[in-house]
Amino acid sequence: MELPILTLYVYLIEGFKKAGMTEEDLEFFVKHGPMDIHHSSLLLDAMIPHLQGKEDREALRSGALRSLDARSILMDGLYRIVWKES
Ligand SMILES: [Fe+2]
Repeated sequence: MELPILTLYVYLIEGFKKAGMTEEDLEFFVKHGPMDIHHSSLLLDAMIPHLQGKEDREALRSGALRSLDARSILMDGLYRIVWKES
């Protein structure tokens, strides 16, 4: 779930800059994005030994979908706050 974050952050940084934020304001996103390549690798290494059967893969799928749903809520909230929509 970390691997797509780098791409996501590229869009976030671009959008936040259009909203008037500086590189300094966006330090977390600028510095953390590239680290997520490594984080993704660590997570895969930790998960793969536990994905033994169909039930495990379904649990992973379900968790990934829940994470994406949560991320969607986060992005909607950021959009509302940055662009002052209610
Ligand atoms: Fe990360």
